[in-house]
Amino acid sequence: MNTTIVDDVYTFVRDKESNARTYAAVIDRVFTAGDAARLTDTEGRQYLDCLSAAGTLALGHNHAAVAARVREFLDSGQVQQALDLTTPAKYEFLRSLYGVLPPDFAAHAKTHFCGPTGADAVEAAVKLFKTATGRRTVLAFHGAYHGMTSGALSLTGNLAAKHRVASLMPDVHFLPYPYSYRCAFGIGGDEGARVGLRYIERVLTDPESGISTPAAIIVEPVQGEGGVVPAPPEWLRGLREITSALDIPLVCDEIQTGLGRTGTMFAFEAAGIEPDAVLLSKAVGGGYPLAVLVYHSRYDTWTPGAHAGTFRGNQVAMVAGAATMDVITAEGLADQAEAKGRLIEEALTSLAGEHPEIGDIRGRGLMWGMEIVDPDGPADALGSRPADGNRARAIKRRCLDHGLLIESGGRHSAVLRLLPPLVITPAEITEMATKVEKALVDRG
Ligand SMILES: Cc1ncc(COP(=O)(O)O)c(C=O)c1O
Repeated sequence: MNTTIVDDVYTFVRDKESNARTYAAVIDRVFTAGDAARLTDTEGRQYLDCLSAAGTLALGHNHAAVAARVREFLDSGQVQQALDLTTPAKYEFLRSLYGVLPPDFAAHAKTHFCGPTGADAVEAAVKLFKTATGRRTVLAFHGAYHGMTSGALSLTGNLAAKHRVASLMPDVHFLPYPYSYRCAFGIGGDEGARVGLRYIERVLTDPESGISTPAAIIVEPVQGEGGVVPAPPEWLRGLREITSALDIPLVCDEIQTGLGRTGTMFAFEAAGIEPDAVLLSKAVGGGYPLAVLVYHSRYDTWTPGAHAGTFRGNQVAMVAGAATMDVITAEGLADQAEAKGRLIEEALTSLAGEHPEIGDIRGRGLMWGMEIVDPDGPADALGSRPADGNRARAIKRRCLDHGLLIESGGRHSAVLRLLPPLVITPAEITEMATKVEKALVDRG
């Protein structure tokens, strides 16, 4: 494609699409090819993709094993769309899924195939646990992101997307998440997390807290869109203990963390807990739309059709998802994510030492964030400087110009997020760090 056509493509689509465009509003490129962690645009420019379709592409672009299984399936004459009918593709998918779930959880787990986005798995969980418990309240956390449908948005912390939308789901309350750098209690560290747990316990047991016993508590073991905030394993264990003691279902939203990204197949495994339900989407469809709610069979109180939907039978996604899980397991990519994550941590630690605008770095496995601050702004009680979304935006833009795709998120969009595919190589991690450094240094 020549440049004129490229401009036309970008401009034409921009003019026709809604104002709610997200990534495309900032990334003014048209990508034509993808291979593992690499993208190429219409002008032949190469990019290192550390966005991975918001964490969806666990194996990067066009992974050969996934593509081969999909191609074989498409040529096989099998049913391509099947509502929720039983098919060989569903059988293979469930076999792979139950093979990667922790055995104790898998032994009693039931799976509901949801409408194909993560948000629908959230909606399904809310409905299931309200039905099973007869309760109406649902609790989520400050900084949580659970999606954009009405119920999921109600459970999302970020106010920007919801303050102009009237009448979201009622009976939702938010609890403090252990975000040490901006600790809700001004304490931070392990003690801040412990105080947070004590607060949660008190809210749930105080007959005058104003919050009735919830149908469920939904938590991301590592908050993604909220600014890459990993919950300390002890905190998650504490939350599990409190919820078990009070008979409150605990739902782990692993839509972004799921399938090896954080160094274990599921992020909750790092805490050694067993949730009552797990939500999966993104990676579980191998790059195609699929979402599942996996839960303890004791809650299976639904009647037939209780959470229906036409596109709950995405066969291609089931095939690609099964292939993806098989590759992650066969190649030990979860363990590799942990090792590669240490390389990222080293690189970011070194950058943070040189650049005071990096206020905090945090992450786990292949999910990292750099919180960009105004280094000259007033420090709060914890010594943290004000979040600087404008500066983060400029750095992100320069990353793009240097051929690196990253995300931003967190409060004021000041956290630059690295979500590379699990197949990123150590050499590419070095390249990524070099590009980030260039973007920090070159302010032109
Ligand atoms: C943790 C988490 N939950 C839910 C969702 C919503 O998924 P979807 O955008 O597919 O609806 C996301 C999306 O980023 C997510 O990160």
